[in-house]
Amino acid sequence: MAELGRVTWPPGPIATDRLLLRLPEARDRAAFVELYTSPDVGTYTGGARPREAVERALPDAPRGRPGHFVIDLDGAMVGIVQLERRDVDYEVSQAAGRVDLGYLLLPQAWRRGYATEACGAVLNWFAGALPGEAVVLTTQAANVPSMRLAARLGFVEVERFEAYGAEQWFGTWTPAATTS
Ligand SMILES: CC(C)(COP(=O)(O)OP(=O)(O)OC[C@H]1O[C@@H](n2cnc3c(N)ncnc32)[C@H](O)[C@@H]1OP(=O)(O)O)[C@@H](O)C(=O)NCCC(=O)NCCS
Repeated sequence: MAELGRVTWPPGPIATDRLLLRLPEARDRAAFVELYTSPDVGTYTGGARPREAVERALPDAPRGRPGHFVIDLDGAMVGIVQLERRDVDYEVSQAAGRVDLGYLLLPQAWRRGYATEACGAVLNWFAGALPGEAVVLTTQAANVPSMRLAARLGFVEVERFEAYGAEQWFGTWTPAATTS
């Protein structure tokens, strides 16, 4: 099994009150295509990708990657949440070599608290697996739902900077800040 730093990942499915965080399966493929081609999802994440290119690039059975979870609601994928250790030459110098949180939910699953629930559970797992290690997050400052989510989760602003033609917000989370 692949590793995230020193711990084996994934640890197996994580159940929350309403969700199951699990590895991707073949039946999630259509939801992955929808996620990557949705103009709404792509508004602050570089834009929607062309459907044809996404269809070509996605394997029949989307593969799990270390730190990547499908967010499952009642048996259907509604998004992904991921922890990923950044390369040391990552463009945000403060994020280099650190574990970064990412989240993408399908629009029909917005505004119900699912992102907070999923990210909170993953951060809670992380706090137990790698005690004391911080998690970082970069999001466009104009992405209000993402900024509000970061605040709810306990991320604290470190700096703002310009990249990709927009103001970016960079923050960190430490285990004591966990919401769950
Ligand atoms: C960023 C993103 C995940 C935030 O989603 P979200 O739906 O706003 O966040 P949550 O799922 O935690 O839902 C919280 C909202 O649901 C509301 N809500 C409704 N019912 C709720 C319930 N039962 N429990 C908790 N919150 C509830 C909350 O009040 C909150 O709204 P508010 O922010 O206006 O106060 C989503 O907008 C998204 O996927 N965007 C596209 C991808 C993206 O930009 N990712 C960022 C990459 S850095």
